[in-house]
Amino acid sequence: MNSVTAKAPSSTANLGPGFDVFGLAVDAFFDEITLTKKKQSGITIVTQDDIPTNPESNTAGLVVKNLRTEFKIQDGIEIRIKKGVPAGFGMGSSAASAAATVIAFDKLYGLRLDKNSLVSFAGIGEKASAGSVHYDNVAASVLGGFVIVKTNPLDIIRIDPPTNLRMCIAVPELDVPKKKTKVSRGVIPKKVSLSDSVLNLSNAAAIVAGFMKKDPKLIGSSIIDVIVEPARQHMIPGFAKVKENALKAGAFGVTISGAGPSVIAFSDKSSDLKRICLAMSRGFSSANTKCQTVICKPSTGAKVQTR
Ligand code: HSE
Repeated sequence: MNSVTAKAPSSTANLGPGFDVFGLAVDAFFDEITLTKKKQSGITIVTQDDIPTNPESNTAGLVVKNLRTEFKIQDGIEIRIKKGVPAGFGMGSSAASAAATVIAFDKLYGLRLDKNSLVSFAGIGEKASAGSVHYDNVAASVLGGFVIVKTNPLDIIRIDPPTNLRMCIAVPELDVPKKKTKVSRGVIPKKVSLSDSVLNLSNAAAIVAGFMKKDPKLIGSSIIDVIVEPARQHMIPGFAKVKENALKAGAFGVTISGAGPSVIAFSDKSSDLKRICLAMSRGFSSANTKCQTVICKPSTGAKVQTR
């Protein structure tokens, strides 16, 4: 085998109170990565998208570099990248590239890595954009479904989401800073009160119960975060109105998707999802901001493409 293509989904991290711990793969957007063995040594990146082509500062490049070193692979490798996940909007864009790269590499060299190793190697790619390794998006993008990240040692717990769970995502048209995740991690309080931490913990536990019981209403109504969302919401124009409107339109819960600025509303198949999207758009309009809205459902994880 000389070449492998893999595709990985977008993801939403945190789901409110599960900062850096919860992730959910969503079928809103996909990245596609093709790895090809080359005689010429080193890593080369080919892409039409506006992303760094230096392997050291490219998510997929970093992942391949680490895997090559770890498994003592001498081949030159060409990485072809097709971005579908918008970068810098809290939809797990770098994680999708990292996840597809790990899955493609694993297949190309027949490594058969276990799930925690795949996620761990993909996490290295996150460093290129976030400045620190966190596994919530990569775990969701690699494995699909709802994931809980347990650290030290890294252990990912995956739960199949309810089949009727639906999300409405509003991606605002904003100029995001280049190192957005790093910037939005900088505004989070270093210390939290015990009462806030108890509130977040109780909601996080209820979200897990909601996924176990396949209950979108329990999931959505537990998406309440009194620690990170209040510290970040000033970075999203119109956030309070977007949230209020979506809840009034029938969403069960609304929060920032990952580090933002996208906003995500949780609902189910029988809700009026178009109405929720429209309500979110109106919320952004009230702050003179345009947005793209997407209705999506949970996704399976990164997969090798067979042509
Ligand atoms: N949990 C991370 C954060 C996700 O909220 O900073 C960023 O992609």
